[in-house]
Amino acid sequence: MTMTTTAAIEVRGIEKSYDDLPVLRGVDFDVVPGSIFALLGANGAGKTTLVRILSTLLRPDAGTAAVHGYDVTADAQRVRESISLTGQFAAVDEILTGRENLVLVARLRHQRDPGTVADALLERFRLTDAGGRKVATYSGGMRRRLDIAMSLIGDPAVIFLDEPTTGLDPEARIDVWEVVQELATRGTTVLLTTQYLEEAEQLADRIAILRDGRIIADGTLAELKRMLPAAKVEYVEKQPTLEEIFLALTGARTDSTTTPEDRS
Ligand SMILES: Nc1ncnc2c1ncn2[C@@H]1O[C@H](COP(=O)(O)OP(=O)(O)O)[C@@H](O)[C@H]1O
Ligand SMILES: [Mg+2]
Repeated sequence: MTMTTTAAIEVRGIEKSYDDLPVLRGVDFDVVPGSIFALLGANGAGKTTLVRILSTLLRPDAGTAAVHGYDVTADAQRVRESISLTGQFAAVDEILTGRENLVLVARLRHQRDPGTVADALLERFRLTDAGGRKVATYSGGMRRRLDIAMSLIGDPAVIFLDEPTTGLDPEARIDVWEVVQELATRGTTVLLTTQYLEEAEQLADRIAILRDGRIIADGTLAELKRMLPAAKVEYVEKQPTLEEIFLALTGARTDSTTTPEDRS
């Protein structure tokens, strides 16, 4: 299979139904290498379904997707070697210490010096002091940081974070944001899913809104802001927030009833 793409993730016409329930009805987007891409959608929108398809855990009914240049169905093994996935529920082992968790994963991934890998990651994720403690004693934010640290062992080119901050308190959320930002500055491509508009606004280079099985908006925050109905922008002195854009685009109840389609 020839690589004709420079995108880290390329999604074309992906469809997926569960029995009679259509969840994805033709999803398209690209993610630039080394960027943070936020897939924004309400609970049940199909975010996890899409992440499972992109990480080869689930087959699409139609459409194609390539991750790190490899087709997710034809080259699933190559895709798996290029990615890591952390879900909403941390995969850390409670009865092990933070360091032991890291060493375990480093061994599984055939790292030459698991202890050194573990210590470097503890340092990078500000867990050095906690490294010798059982994970059972960690806060939610510390667990999630450890989880992300574990997912980086082996240096995947692309990392999928499925609702990385759901269930965390605001302080822990900001903590995780810092970690995610740091990933991208080192060149890792990050696709994260979120229900939080603010999270997408804070973190993402590009934001796609998944609704009714399709991407209804895709762009930088500035581009999405320009999609707001002109009539509304005129009366808004401050820059519109992503929440205002989201409400306008999804037709949820606001003082503005126009959508971009209405303008044409
Ligand atoms: N294995 C499954 N079997 C049947 N329905 C499912 C399954 N997984 C998810 N769904 C349904 O598909 C829809 C999308 O789910 P999901 O991808 O988990 O959304 P999100 O992650 O955005 O909350 C939901 O209506 C959910 O109930
Ligand atoms: Mg989900």
